[in-house]
Amino acid sequence: MNKFDFDNPFRPGAGHRPPHLAGRKPEMQEFQRLLTQETILENMILTGLRGVGKTVLLDALKPQAIKERWLWIGTDLSESSSVSEETMAIRLMTDLSVVTSSLVVERSEDLIGFTGGTRHEHTLNFNTLTTIFNATPGLIADKLKSVLEIVWHALDAHGARGLIFAYDEAQNLADQAQKEQYPLSMMLDVFQSLQRKDMRFMLVLTGLPTLFPKLVEARTYAERMFHVVFLDRLGGDACRDAILKPIEAADCPLKLKKKMVQTIIDLSGGYPYFIQFVCKEVYDSFIQQLDSGKEVFIPIDEIVHKLDNDFFAGRWNRATDRQRELLSLIARLPNCDTEFSVLEITGMSRESAKPFSPSQVSQMLASLGNSGLVYKNRHGRYSFAVPLLGQFIARQSEPLA
Ligand SMILES: Nc1ncnc2c1ncn2[C@@H]1O[C@H](COP(=O)(O)OP(=O)(O)O)[C@@H](O)[C@H]1O
Ligand SMILES: [Mg+2]
Repeated sequence: MNKFDFDNPFRPGAGHRPPHLAGRKPEMQEFQRLLTQETILENMILTGLRGVGKTVLLDALKPQAIKERWLWIGTDLSESSSVSEETMAIRLMTDLSVVTSSLVVERSEDLIGFTGGTRHEHTLNFNTLTTIFNATPGLIADKLKSVLEIVWHALDAHGARGLIFAYDEAQNLADQAQKEQYPLSMMLDVFQSLQRKDMRFMLVLTGLPTLFPKLVEARTYAERMFHVVFLDRLGGDACRDAILKPIEAADCPLKLKKKMVQTIIDLSGGYPYFIQFVCKEVYDSFIQQLDSGKEVFIPIDEIVHKLDNDFFAGRWNRATDRQRELLSLIARLPNCDTEFSVLEITGMSRESAKPFSPSQVSQMLASLGNSGLVYKNRHGRYSFAVPLLGQFIARQSEPLA
């Protein structure tokens, strides 16, 4: 607390709930529509670049679902749990048990693995789920399906409308052909099959733009199974809300002038993470400036410098010299902020001292893809995987003032 009795409300940081969730109404309405499905024909994907607000939007969908009598489970898949089909199944059952362990199934005959004919009550805790799983013959997919079918009947009896599996960072899911393990395909098969039987288990996956192509590569029907919502930078009004509403709510004695708001929008490019970052810096700086007694101003150069250090430098420093040369060429393309092709890069490269051949460019883009700096979209074109990377790179080649 400072002497103006004002806590800086801005929250730059992965998954930190913003003081005001701006924009995103259309996305929430879209989700609302999916909640009304009798038969689940569409599951949801929230995709977009890092820092665009996927995690915090996913968090905001949860109360919306609960209000419509859906149950909600899920985790962050950053540490990939999809090494094998079995670990995937265990992951799903672990998450399931959080909500099902309070449900009781009465008739023992309904439960495979609980024989003896006597009537017992079983709670659907993790042990019960794995007992059913182990007692079901067949493939992992068959075992998982029989667990989920029993869960569905218990949920239905309990009055729940359905159950949502919400997985963040789902681009980490992957089949492992060399090990003959297909956890991703298995998961899609299981949900597709249960949804066809009118069981309302719905997937809500979030992840980087590589997620959807990955699912379609695993199972072509994934194309029809998911409604893809691409989160982008915020529009002008939403930007202003994201900046101004928290200041109003915190009752800050220092208001932003219109021009200052525009400066923040320009600096952040409308990307939510950058809005939080810049606003936090602006207000930290204001608080210090107040002591000087002069009129407050936004220290633009200092903020940009701090952003470069805190956000971009780590990623840039991990690239090799030759990769940086290539990235610098890309940053000179007028369309570097949208999408670009191998051909455009080699075209730009002709003017440079050490040109790149098309095959070199393709290879390097693939390795830059693995390190999370670019990604290839479904039409074979490429984009930067980090927002505003082009501007950062351009700053690196500017002579120091
Ligand atoms: N709609 C929004 N309005 C204001 N701030 C937001 C919004 N969405 C995200 N943020 C902020 O942006 C940052 C990144 O959000 P996050 O959900 O972690 O992004 P992602 O999961 O896409 O990487 C967080 O600091 C968060 O508070
Ligand atoms: Mg996230």
